[in-house]
Amino acid sequence: MTIGVGVIGGGTVGGGVISILTHSREHIKSTSGVDIRLVHVADIDTRKFQGFDLDGVQISEDAEELLHNPSVDVVCELIGGIEPARRFILEAFRQGKHVITANKMLLAYHGPELTQAAASVGVELRYEAAVAGGIPIIKAIREGLAASVIRSVYGIFNGTCNYILTRMTYDGLEFGEALSQAIERGFAETPPDLDIEGHDTAHKCLIIASLCSSSVINLKDVYVEGITRVTHADVLYAKEMGYIIKLLGIVRTMDDSVEVRVHPTLVPEDHLLASVRNEFNAVYVLSEATDATLYYGRGAGRMPTAGAVVADIIDIGRRNRNAPMPAFVFNAQRRVRPIGEVESRYYLRLTTLDRPGVLGKVCTILGAKNVSIASCIQKEEHEERPVHVVLMTHTTREASLRSALSEIDQLDFIREKTQVLRVL
Ligand code: HSE
Repeated sequence: MTIGVGVIGGGTVGGGVISILTHSREHIKSTSGVDIRLVHVADIDTRKFQGFDLDGVQISEDAEELLHNPSVDVVCELIGGIEPARRFILEAFRQGKHVITANKMLLAYHGPELTQAAASVGVELRYEAAVAGGIPIIKAIREGLAASVIRSVYGIFNGTCNYILTRMTYDGLEFGEALSQAIERGFAETPPDLDIEGHDTAHKCLIIASLCSSSVINLKDVYVEGITRVTHADVLYAKEMGYIIKLLGIVRTMDDSVEVRVHPTLVPEDHLLASVRNEFNAVYVLSEATDATLYYGRGAGRMPTAGAVVADIIDIGRRNRNAPMPAFVFNAQRRVRPIGEVESRYYLRLTTLDRPGVLGKVCTILGAKNVSIASCIQKEEHEERPVHVVLMTHTTREASLRSALSEIDQLDFIREKTQVLRVL
């Protein structure tokens, strides 16, 4: 079977897709039986297509031409952002075309609308490339683990943050220095706020949560905390306690609710996720029948992400056209648990004057809120300056901890807002 493909966007991922489709057509045909013919490419800057062998391929500045080309069966939307990407995808559906996108932000904001629009005309919306780039995690969840109830997912979904935290952990860099290196090496978005403030991870985590819970998840209900407040001191104290700090996207499903949260997390150093370094991504899935499975690889970059887009095209080519696979199945209504209901162990770093009674007062407040301390570190300071007191708590409800901290941070010897990190 031959499938006609149009690519909107000639940037990093679009260029990678064009490269695979122009170089590997015969290989894909011989191994999958699907003959993918690149018929149309579009970008407002068509100079991006220079250097590709596009003989016989139509090139447009205007994506509308591609969307109305009857030879295009599958549209790859690879421009990113909300508009005009959303408008292009809806128009592609109206024209009866399947769509493949790498656009996690668009899916996080408009997943239900796009799912409904695709289903109403019997075409597919596919998005393997949107989560963890080259790791086939969407396929693993939708197909490989289809028989199993997924109870939790812990993901390192952002290569930039993982790179920064790795440099802080193993090379002793402060956050700012590590961020500059990540920007130089080209992993970070421009500007990098979506990465370091945790939003990119939240978009990907929402997609995974929607799949695992069969529920519509609103982005505003997802708790998001990035890595900008993690210091080198936190990394060292965590290491001393036997943990490595990672930015995790966490999904946990309960019968009537789902936890969806993004935050820096202390991961025990012997956990598989702790060994995932640099810009690599990994997703650890716990499901009832299968128990633990781990998926590891490159979560970004031209060819890993382009490979995921082309794999989706092949899948569409292989599928029965009379039975399109729905993008998401929203047949449950699990509420998203507010962060206050989450239960975890916590790492607390207090910055305090070194005075008699400090630990006594802090521990009394924690004890009154039923927060129990598991261990404590304080280093002797030989000069007259504030010290760090690091406490590890036993499992407690976040609302109780927050209530205690609002009192602790008012004490006159506390010199900075207390650092709070959750523990896996
Ligand atoms: N900036 C993202 C990352 C790219 O660092 O993982 C892939 O979404």
